[in-house]
Amino acid sequence: MSVEHPSGSGSVPGPSGPVGGPPAEPDDFDFTGSLRLAPGGGAVDWDVLHTQARIAMTKAYVPYSKYPVGAAALLETGSIVSGCNVENASYGLTLCAECTMVGQLQMTGGGRIVAFTCVNGDGEPITPCGRCRQLLHEFSAETMYIRTAEGVTTLQDLLPQAFGPRDLEA
Ligand code: THU
Repeated sequence: MSVEHPSGSGSVPGPSGPVGGPPAEPDDFDFTGSLRLAPGGGAVDWDVLHTQARIAMTKAYVPYSKYPVGAAALLETGSIVSGCNVENASYGLTLCAECTMVGQLQMTGGGRIVAFTCVNGDGEPITPCGRCRQLLHEFSAETMYIRTAEGVTTLQDLLPQAFGPRDLEA
């Protein structure tokens, strides 16, 4: 399976089917069209997601911190979106990689994130900052797996009792 990378940089490998296997097949999706994930994010090809985060990291605009970050998310549909940090001379206006990533998510049709990772300039997984955990929560699937330097965890573990869209329902 091949996913057209929205950056226009051509075709990149898509997510694999269950446990690092071949490309996702129709049977890997449930009746709603969502990817089936084993507990712990077993169906996620973390290598593919990691590669996409590294590619995104190379696009970072970081003249001030010199700390590039790349982020990549696997959506329920099997698509991958990515983003990089974009800094600003007015330092506080810096956009984190997660920020540009969710912008791309929305601009390419929206969706729910089932798995996410972000990396630093050495390609090592980092843990999203507090503000970005909230950004991710807005677009997260029921369970959203995150790979950090400590291993795979869930967004709920990183942002318990989160305020979200449902709180705004009457
Ligand atoms: N940064 C991100 O892009 N995401 C995070 O989750 C943490 C921090 C960026 C912001 C800034 O450009 C640089 O890393 C140093 O803080």
